[in-house]
Amino acid sequence: MSDKKILLSGVKPTGRPHIGNYFGAMKQFVELQDRHQSYIFIADLHALTTMQNKKELEESTLGVALDYMAIGLDPKRVTIFKQSDVPQVAELAWIFNCITTMPYLMRAHAYKDAEAKSKEVNVGLFDYPMLMAADILIQDADVVPVGKDQKQHVEYARDTAQKFNNTFGETFKLPNPLILEGTQPIVPGIDGQKMSKSYNNIIPLFATDEDIDRLVMSIVTDSGGEVPATVHAIHTLFRPEEELKPIYQKHIGQYAETKKILIEDIKNFIRPIRERRQALEKDKDAVLEVLRTGGKVARDRAEKKMEKVRELVGLKLY
Ligand code: TRP
Repeated sequence: MSDKKILLSGVKPTGRPHIGNYFGAMKQFVELQDRHQSYIFIADLHALTTMQNKKELEESTLGVALDYMAIGLDPKRVTIFKQSDVPQVAELAWIFNCITTMPYLMRAHAYKDAEAKSKEVNVGLFDYPMLMAADILIQDADVVPVGKDQKQHVEYARDTAQKFNNTFGETFKLPNPLILEGTQPIVPGIDGQKMSKSYNNIIPLFATDEDIDRLVMSIVTDSGGEVPATVHAIHTLFRPEEELKPIYQKHIGQYAETKKILIEDIKNFIRPIRERRQALEKDKDAVLEVLRTGGKVARDRAEKKMEKVRELVGLKLY
């Protein structure tokens, strides 16, 4: 047994990632993979709360696996799996439901936001924190790297572990969030606002060279300044400031020149990971096999934990 701490995180299968997602969070999973015993999964059951389309869910799930393997998540060092291969989490979430009150779940930001936008909230969305608590607690996770927006959910997991332990006996570890955003400055998009799909200002992580040319050339430059602020801010992701300073000093006022250098830097960064993704795409069976193998590892661990839970709760008669 290794004495490394257990790290677990889930990624919801949604659209294609952009460089803001990469520098904000994805990259850090790769950096953390060696220091911990790591479990990274694709939260397909959670995705069902908003995605109810077979093809879309299947493609997004596979897409996330490809994305993460392309950026360097290594199935030899990390257990990569899809959530639905561990059906025990749904069983555990049910048990958590029965020791959790409605008013407590009504305080969840995600639920309140959906309510405020008067969206029709399905029961799955309302119960999202309990499924997430089950994901975390069933694997005995110590560390849960997440974006700021998910911090409250990890707190729900901690509270729920405590509640279960008080009710039925010491069973679950209390997990700690590791907040990924904030270690990285906000990544601006090509219009200078925070890079976000909803602002239509992204540079895709697996962009083609033509996309990179077009997107960088359309970065807004305020005419007043000597250094184009947004170009420079995006550039800091790809090169240290010591190297950028002389470049931007040499090209004061020459926005097109600095953009050309940025284009080259982005291309050099994206090309190898884009090619890895393309290679992985050609061997889908191998990627599916990674998920299948990881799923078995995660499921076996979960089943062991659930045997104890069932016994403590009074579900195990024989
Ligand atoms: N809710 C997370 C998100 O939207 C995904 C997720 C599901 C997760 N289960 C998890 C993250 C368990 C960390 C741990 O990003």
